[in-house]
Amino acid sequence: MGSLIGSLQVLCLLLVLVLPFEVDCSLSFSSSALNYSTPLCQPEDSSALLQFKNTISIHDSDDPICADSMTSYPKTKTWNESTNCCSWEGVTCDEVTGHVIGLDLSCSSLVGSLPANSSLFLLKGLKRLNLAHNNFNGSSIPSGGQLPSTLMNLTQLSQLRFSFNKLEGPLPSHVSGLQNLKEFQSFSNLLSGGIPSWLFTLPSLEFLGLSYNRLTGPIDPIQNPSSVQEVYLASNGIHGEMPRSFFDLANLTHLDLSSNNLSGVIKPDLLSKLENLQMLDLSSNNFSGLIEPELISKLKNLRRLHLSNNKLLSLSSGTGIKDTFPELMTLSFSSCNVSRFPGFLRTGKNLRVLDLSDNKISGSVLKWELEGWEQLTFLNLSYNFLTSLEQFPGKNLEILDLRSNLLQGPLLAPPPSLQQFFISNNKLTGKIPPLICNLSSLEILDLSRNNLGGTIPACLGNFSYLLSTINLQMNNFHGKIPDSFVVGNSLTYLLLSDNQFEGLLPRSLVNCFLRILDLANNKLRDTFPHWLDANFSLKVLVLRSNRFHGPLNNSIVKPSFMSLQLIDLSQNEFSGLLPSNFFQNLFAMKYTRPVSPTGVHITSFPEGIGSLDDSSVNVTTKRLELELELARTLLIFFAIDFSSNQFYGKIPEVIGELSSVQVLNLSHNSLTGHIPTSLGNLVALESLDLSSNKLDGRIPSQLTNLTFLEVLDLSKNNLVGPIPNGKQFSTFENDSYSGNLGLCGFPLSKQCGNNEGSKSPAPKFKEDEGSALAFIWKLVVMGYGCGLVLGLSTGYIVFTTGRPWWFVRMVERNWQNNVTKWIRRKKRRRN
Ligand SMILES: *[C@@H]1O[C@H](CO)[C@@H](O)[C@H](O)[C@H]1NC(C)=O
Ligand SMILES: *[C@@H]1O[C@H](CO)[C@@H](O)[C@H](O)[C@H]1NC(C)=O
Ligand SMILES: *[C@@H]1O[C@H](CO)[C@@H](O)[C@H](O)[C@H]1NC(C)=O
Ligand SMILES: *[C@@H]1O[C@H](CO)[C@@H](O)[C@H](O)[C@H]1NC(C)=O
Ligand SMILES: *[C@@H]1O[C@H](CO)[C@@H](O)[C@H](O)[C@H]1NC(C)=O
Ligand SMILES: *[C@@H]1O[C@H](CO)[C@@H](O)[C@H](O)[C@H]1NC(C)=O
Ligand SMILES: *[C@@H]1O[C@H](CO)[C@@H](O)[C@H](O)[C@H]1NC(C)=O
Ligand SMILES: *[C@@H]1O[C@H](CO)[C@@H](O)[C@H](O)[C@H]1NC(C)=O
Ligand SMILES: *[C@@H]1O[C@H](CO)[C@@H](O)[C@H](O)[C@H]1NC(C)=O
Ligand SMILES: *[C@@H]1O[C@H](CO)[C@@H](O)[C@H](O)[C@H]1NC(C)=O
Ligand SMILES: *[C@@H]1O[C@H](CO)[C@@H](O)[C@H](O)[C@H]1NC(C)=O
Ligand SMILES: *[C@@H]1O[C@H](CO)[C@@H](O)[C@H](O)[C@H]1NC(C)=O
Repeated sequence: MGSLIGSLQVLCLLLVLVLPFEVDCSLSFSSSALNYSTPLCQPEDSSALLQFKNTISIHDSDDPICADSMTSYPKTKTWNESTNCCSWEGVTCDEVTGHVIGLDLSCSSLVGSLPANSSLFLLKGLKRLNLAHNNFNGSSIPSGGQLPSTLMNLTQLSQLRFSFNKLEGPLPSHVSGLQNLKEFQSFSNLLSGGIPSWLFTLPSLEFLGLSYNRLTGPIDPIQNPSSVQEVYLASNGIHGEMPRSFFDLANLTHLDLSSNNLSGVIKPDLLSKLENLQMLDLSSNNFSGLIEPELISKLKNLRRLHLSNNKLLSLSSGTGIKDTFPELMTLSFSSCNVSRFPGFLRTGKNLRVLDLSDNKISGSVLKWELEGWEQLTFLNLSYNFLTSLEQFPGKNLEILDLRSNLLQGPLLAPPPSLQQFFISNNKLTGKIPPLICNLSSLEILDLSRNNLGGTIPACLGNFSYLLSTINLQMNNFHGKIPDSFVVGNSLTYLLLSDNQFEGLLPRSLVNCFLRILDLANNKLRDTFPHWLDANFSLKVLVLRSNRFHGPLNNSIVKPSFMSLQLIDLSQNEFSGLLPSNFFQNLFAMKYTRPVSPTGVHITSFPEGIGSLDDSSVNVTTKRLELELELARTLLIFFAIDFSSNQFYGKIPEVIGELSSVQVLNLSHNSLTGHIPTSLGNLVALESLDLSSNKLDGRIPSQLTNLTFLEVLDLSKNNLVGPIPNGKQFSTFENDSYSGNLGLCGFPLSKQCGNNEGSKSPAPKFKEDEGSALAFIWKLVVMGYGCGLVLGLSTGYIVFTTGRPWWFVRMVERNWQNNVTKWIRRKKRRRN
């Protein structure tokens, strides 16, 4: 047996030497084919563990990392004093002494604190402690000025993992012991204070991970030599100049200081000692200077260099013929001060990813500068001032982003390897080259916002089975939309708005699993495509401003449009009745709660969300045109806009079942009859526009129940009787009702007669919660106080709500005034 163990240890040693990744010998032993009897736990360890168990509780966590991990469950639940602690979940013992040497309680739903006297620190043999992804909130890493003697007695400790725990407070300012600590991980906690210099004096430290905390700097000079190899300090508040001593850490392989507030000039001599460096991330800081080819070439082992978002940093345009970058694979240099395309980088034979987006690169990129990019698969030159690219670089490009430049002339044929192609918002003219039909791996084609014209190639629906997004919005394409969508295609987003497309909708669209179809502002002439949604996938259907005509087919037996969230048929020639069964089928609008701003109801993001960055759709409410970003619309917005058609007859009662609808616009039709009382059930409604119809009767008092209603327009109808009062109705002004000669009561000056008057007292305004529109106003208000709202002056309101971020753009000349006005209104109502 002994010799067997010996030879296994030798084998393990060999593995460690040969393999690039770490082999955990102790682990592979305990689970190996060899059947050791589990060692017997030491009673003091057992009692320390049980004592720890008693100080913590178990609470389901919402940590996304733990959500799908096999190893995430409350491991301490099985700990039982009548069993051997070495067999407990998460506990590893030394085979010989029986002492606990490893404790892995990551993703164990633990809630509690970690005081200095925690019994965990009595486990003298402990080598590895992993408490990541729990909720030791409000705790600090045991300190009290210096690390408690308890922790310092853990001289065997080599690995400490505390990440994702909401730990607070400063790191201990002084420490001794921990001679063997190799790895210290505390990503994503709430640690504050400075970065103590002792960390870099730990004689064995190789890995230091403190990203995503609230540490502030400056960083003290670091003592050398240091064994440290990987340092992650991203997303803290470290400021000041970067200490030169950082650049003397000869064994450093990975350094991430991104998203801090560091400044200083990056000079060539600074980096020259970092020969082992493989990854350097200094993005999102305030570094300045000019990065020369020479500087990069000195870092012989550098694979990934991230310098994005340093506004004062430039990249040389020198030729750098003699400089080579044999290992460099990724260079990101977006949002800096680059003014020329750095042709020299093409000598980087391994360069795969190059991001130079959002710089000041202008003019043409010449043919010779675009040759030799052998391995390049990702190139992002978006948001620059390029006027031409003489050819597309490389033969292996998969993702090419050229959007928002000044590119002119015809569109070049991209390399056949391309998977994602963005060239929107340029000044391209001419036609789509037929060679586009060779891109058999294409997933995203975004040619929107150019001056491209002509007809589109007939191959559109069948050249790539992977094509999920086609965005040709805002060009001058004409002719028919090709009827070539084959069975088994992947098309999910088809955006063709603002062109001159004409004729019928291609019937082969029935083969797609479309989520968004936007055909607004074309010359399409067809009847309502009741056949379209064979796969029940459609969430957004926009036919606005075309020549669609005829009734919404009332004879559909098969349910369809069950997933629709936004339907815009406005400004067409539709006629006939509003068929009840059409609305009855809109299940998504009945049963989905509009996603609440805290994000709790989000189950998934629409895939390809990045591909829709520039795509938006306008939804009209009376006083405000909302331009919604489509990708996010899928999550938050429910709207029906049938305005400016020739619909007649009554508004069907069943519309009242669509309780998710936030915007309902039936204006400018010939609707007759009463306003259905059932509209009072549209609890999510924020904008109701029934103006310019022939509606008669009274305004149902049930509408006062619509507590989110911000916009009401009933003008130009034949309504009579008293205007209901109370709640939202105390906020609408005269123009909501103008052109109805028979209406009376507040806010109109016409008093109601004695038997007309409504005497119910105005109920108090109810505090709203969780609705998209209302939420905008609320956040705007908050934004003034907490800085949540960014870029108000540019017409964007961007706000974060913890997890995903929401984005709504207001489009109206006076939008800012409106917002302010509405805030005031809201406040008034609250008071
Ligand atoms: C290991 O030994 C234990 C008892 O010593 C036994 O119950 C178990 O079945 C053995 N496992 C294997 C895989 O041989
Ligand atoms: C501990 O294990 C014993 C024997 O397996 C069992 O009777 C007892 O209920 C367990 N206690 C707890 C708290 O699970
Ligand atoms: C730790 O100290 C606190 C007081 O600081 C005390 O209340 C607690 O009982 C102690 N816990 C242990 C496990 O000794
Ligand atoms: C820690 O989290 C738990 C569960 O989420 C909570 O009940 C407790 O109040 C929190 N404690 C602190 C100090 O934040
Ligand atoms: C730490 O170790 C020293 C010497 O081994 C011992 O005297 C001391 O009591 C230990 N401290 C604690 C808190 O266990
Ligand atoms: C740096 O790494 C080398 C080789 O791995 C090692 O011999 C040396 O001790 C390390 N330097 C320090 C200061 O730990
Ligand atoms: C960075 O530093 C500047 C100037 O000291 C300060 O105004 C700014 O708020 C800091 N930014 C962050 C993210 O800490
Ligand atoms: C950025 O660094 C420059 C000097 O390099 C300094 O003048 C400026 O104040 C810094 N800005 C911030 C926000 O720290
Ligand atoms: C940006 O680079 C240009 C030269 O390419 C230089 O003239 C200018 O001063 C730089 N701007 C900043 C803010 O560093
Ligand atoms: C390219 O860069 C821009 C701006 O930095 C970014 O918004 C866009 O998502 C990037 N494109 C791709 C395909 O990653
Ligand atoms: C929405 O409307 C605004 C203003 O009318 C316009 O500038 C914008 O291009 C429109 N967006 C779309 C997607 O139609
Ligand atoms: C408003 O809603 C409440 C409860 O949802 C209901 O009891 C009441 O009748 C409604 N009022 C009107 C006027 O419909």
